[in-house]
Amino acid sequence: MKDDLEKILEKALKTKTEPQKGRRPEPLKRKVLAMVFEKPSLRTRVSFEIGVSQLGGTALYIGPDEVQMGKRETVADVAKVLSGYANGIMYRAFSNEVMRELAKHATIPVINGLDDMEHPCQCAADLLTILEKKKTLKGLQLTYVGDGNNVCNSLLLGCAITGMNMRAATPKQHAPNAEILAKAQAIAQEKGCVVEALSNPFEAVEGADVIYTDTWVSMGQESEKEEREKLFLPYQVNAKLAEKASKEWIFMHCLPAHRGYEVSEEIMDGPHSVVFDQAENRLHAQKAILAAVL
Ligand code: CP
Ligand code: NVA
Repeated sequence: MKDDLEKILEKALKTKTEPQKGRRPEPLKRKVLAMVFEKPSLRTRVSFEIGVSQLGGTALYIGPDEVQMGKRETVADVAKVLSGYANGIMYRAFSNEVMRELAKHATIPVINGLDDMEHPCQCAADLLTILEKKKTLKGLQLTYVGDGNNVCNSLLLGCAITGMNMRAATPKQHAPNAEILAKAQAIAQEKGCVVEALSNPFEAVEGADVIYTDTWVSMGQESEKEEREKLFLPYQVNAKLAEKASKEWIFMHCLPAHRGYEVSEEIMDGPHSVVFDQAENRLHAQKAILAAVL
């Protein structure tokens, strides 16, 4: 994926901005994507389902109570059974370990539709959005503020691969995954950009072209809600925090958003916000991914 990311972004941008003349190509004709969800979803489910259908294939939704990965049967058995029916699996999982286990035993491609460690399809859509808005990625400064979660981890890798500088400002105990950060820093060094984790959000937003945040309470962390909402309060993206950003900065959020918590209403619904373009770009980025891997 590392070497393919830039090609995928190019392809997504091209198919989004240059509508096909005549009959649309159907690279997924007679192909089926099995979509296994252990958690709720609006964007991932709908954008994959529509994307597959626009490419001529069929997407099959399999909800949280149906497979019961590793409980009703082993992950390896699920992987082998689905590999006999479908051409690809899109999996939204609680655990990155189970995601990898499924991919190890499947004989068809497995697309990560979010787990506790990563959210790569979101990251592809985010980079596509930045590319559209800023016309380039290389050398830009993205500042992520809030929880060092799955979305933050994938952005660290995505920014490094595409030569963007990234600062992640989080409370120390919620810093991004150390292994992913080290991997992103090694890639960044090759690409000539800087990826760093810090804790002061004001320092982190200086000169930012993009300010990005996500929920303080990810799916599966509901029991920590109260404690997290107190701890993360200084990390809210609001007008005061954004004062030191670059003049033409854009605000990004993977959604769902919580106004008054990780982002103020004025920023979320204000002129810098590109969150709905970002949501739409899930469709375009994923169509390029699907066409490349299925
Ligand atoms: N951003 C995102 O993945 O949204 P959903 O959880 O609604 O799929
Ligand atoms: N970090 C969030 C992203 C939701 C799309 C979560 O995992 O719940």
